[in-house]
Amino acid sequence: MSTDVVISDDRASSRDPRMNETTPPLPTVKVSASTNQRETPSRSADEMAQQAKKVVAHNVDFYYGSHQALHAISLEVPEHCVTALIGPSGCGKSTFLRCLNRMNDMIEGTRVCGDILLDGEDIYRRGTDVVELRKRVGMVFQKSNPFPKSIYENIAYGPRVAGLRKRAVLDEIVETSLRQAALWDEVHHRLDDSALQLSGGQQQRLCIARALATDPDVLLMDEPASALDPKSTAAIEDLIFELKTTYTIVIVTHNMQQAARVSDQTAFFFEGHLIEVGATNALFTKPTQQKTEDYITGRFG
Ligand SMILES: Nc1ncnc2c1ncn2[C@@H]1O[C@H](COP(=O)(O)OP(=O)(O)O)[C@@H](O)[C@H]1O
Ligand SMILES: [Mg+2]
Repeated sequence: MSTDVVISDDRASSRDPRMNETTPPLPTVKVSASTNQRETPSRSADEMAQQAKKVVAHNVDFYYGSHQALHAISLEVPEHCVTALIGPSGCGKSTFLRCLNRMNDMIEGTRVCGDILLDGEDIYRRGTDVVELRKRVGMVFQKSNPFPKSIYENIAYGPRVAGLRKRAVLDEIVETSLRQAALWDEVHHRLDDSALQLSGGQQQRLCIARALATDPDVLLMDEPASALDPKSTAAIEDLIFELKTTYTIVIVTHNMQQAARVSDQTAFFFEGHLIEVGATNALFTKPTQQKTEDYITGRFG
């Protein structure tokens, strides 16, 4: 079969055999600004298999009242990789994403069954500190939602809530987070300006910086670039590629080209079921399920 999805070939990449699950992140991905061509391709299935399982969902069912939105979802999220969730609108991508930091708890009448482990610990066990969980598993939404405060205060907000008061420490967190989100160079001279004055693309990077300021392990992104122009989208995609050396990323996107560009692993959802999950390259070129093939070749969606 053929698709119009172009993804980088990762078969030539080889991994240092000395690396094992306890070693630090894979080598830094370099992004060449001039061409946007990444020097390091996506991780292969073998490379991902060697990474620790950061998040493991096992047999997850989810209900909004009597409506079952997720059916027996089992998915492993390897550390320092980007996992993309794709599928048509309403298939449960956002619902599943929100299960990973218990954001659905805020929606009345919902119920989750099954297990979701973060570093081997069940996040739904009794006594879980949900605020702490959401610091470890940060979230960025489709529509950027900066607070109506200064750029500085947007980033410092989380650390302040966590009890940090020292200005020098906050300054450092603000700078580091903005640098990680590739926004520092554009805003360092106007940190006291309102965040609402930033462009849409800058606001979204600000929201990413805000999520990074609480020092998470995992970053959940729900269609983070869908409201952005192509240039801002490319900036966010480059950023995602960079961030995976430090964080573990799960991104929802309805844009298959985007999934192919940024992710190592792709999970295809359909009507609340996980139809297929695999290395992105393999899923887009050799899907094992007819439904997946129909979707990625545009027969429905
Ligand atoms: N807050 C909610 N209350 C009730 N039903 C919801 C809510 N959010 C989503 N759903 C339903 O759950 C299903 C999955 O939705 P969602 O996870 O948003 O899908 P996707 O992100 O793939 O578009 C849909 O049938 C949707 O209507
Ligand atoms: Mg959604």
